[in-house]
Amino acid sequence: MGQMAAEQNNELIPSARRLVTSLRDMGYDFSAAVADLVDNSVVADATLVAIDVEFDGDDSWVRIADNGCGMATAQLKESMRYGAERDYDADDLGKFGLGLKTASLSQCQRLSVASRTNPKRAEITAFCWDLAHIQKTNRWELIPLDRQGLGPAIREPLKDTCGTVVLWQKLDRILGFKHPYGEAARKCLSAMCRELEEHLAMVFHRFLGGEVSGKRFKILLNGNEVKPWDPYARNEPKTNSLTTVKLPVEHNGVKGEIVLAPFVLPHEKQFSSPDAHTRMSGPRRWNHQQGFYIYRANRMIQSGGWCNLRTLDEHTKLARVALRFSPKLDDAFKINVSKMRVQLPPQLHDQIERALGPVIKIAQETYRKGAKQPAITHQAGTTSGGDVAAPPADNANSSTPSRPSTAKLWTFEEIEERIQEVARSDEKPVIARVFERLRGRLK
Ligand SMILES: Nc1ncnc2c1ncn2[C@@H]1O[C@H](COP(=O)(O)OP(=O)(O)O)[C@@H](O)[C@H]1O
Ligand SMILES: [Mg+2]
Repeated sequence: MGQMAAEQNNELIPSARRLVTSLRDMGYDFSAAVADLVDNSVVADATLVAIDVEFDGDDSWVRIADNGCGMATAQLKESMRYGAERDYDADDLGKFGLGLKTASLSQCQRLSVASRTNPKRAEITAFCWDLAHIQKTNRWELIPLDRQGLGPAIREPLKDTCGTVVLWQKLDRILGFKHPYGEAARKCLSAMCRELEEHLAMVFHRFLGGEVSGKRFKILLNGNEVKPWDPYARNEPKTNSLTTVKLPVEHNGVKGEIVLAPFVLPHEKQFSSPDAHTRMSGPRRWNHQQGFYIYRANRMIQSGGWCNLRTLDEHTKLARVALRFSPKLDDAFKINVSKMRVQLPPQLHDQIERALGPVIKIAQETYRKGAKQPAITHQAGTTSGGDVAAPPADNANSSTPSRPSTAKLWTFEEIEERIQEVARSDEKPVIARVFERLRGRLK
């Protein structure tokens, strides 16, 4: 049947070779691609998603393994098809039947998916899309993996549990290096992991923090638990939670509503600790993290920015507004395949702007007044709220005020990693060599 599906597809698609290139370019970045697979695990009722990134030069891999319901052979085969069909629940994180394939193949050239559905028998079914095979044969052929084809990286997570394992091999980001086994490639992968952790902590924070009833799960990244990052600093005593606004929406006959929950975060000086303030700056730092945090079925799609309703402004950087909608309004929000972008329905612009008015005013006041107020003194035991972190030891010493407490001081390694991240592949080895030399001199 798999062969038949493949042949049918080939009739529809004259050149698999040509098509595969465009299907890979759906606007995913590494973190968004992994998040799309975590969506699938959530839909499959997983309580644990273990993501592992293994550096091994050309053979490096990324694995996303869950303990969800898994897929039987026919379902797995269907799910490997582009545009796989199934019914979607009202709060379903899936959408187009594309994510598994497009997210994965935007990052790697070999995608294997294995699944186990029987808790009593360790029977695993697995299939693989291999771009080298498609390029070679010009056929859209799904490769079944038999026992021998299943390496330990696929088998191991399904040893004691039902669930699904997605394995990415031949990672584009690593193959782009002249020396895939070199230090620069290794560092690139660890920088990707750090970004990924921040991204997952943010986009799934409502699930990880237990705010979505019946859908709590844990993510382990290389064995470490990813803790939720709450953009609104709700455990800070001075965070200002403003009145929630609900706006009805009607689009092409579909009725729904959006919920706006605005927050004004404390001024830097009013945070319970400098460390807490730094943590709240977020992946793109304070100025870029102001604005809307848009959730579709509790999963964050977009973070920060004002969707063209306002510009980013230092004076309003403390305003963060949760905006939630349900998947039935997908068309109104023009959601894209990689679930990285939406557009606010134009008919709502005026109402949203009106609702923002007081939020912006309070954010500006908090910013202005905060600047004039003395900072909260951070002494051990004076913070309220159980979760608030104690200030780091060196900040507790108030006799050294000249160093701005929030400045992020980067280590030598971090600087190198940041530079490597933006470097082109031909520049990477040169940068690695320069840093090596500098390291030698500093010694
Ligand atoms: N981790 C998983 N566990 C169980 N089923 C999965 C998993 N990942 C994917 N699937 C199945 O494969 C289908 C296709 O997934 P995908 O390509 O991401 O599209 P979508 O999520 O939009 O439906 C899903 O609808 C689901 O039935
Ligand atoms: Mg999906």
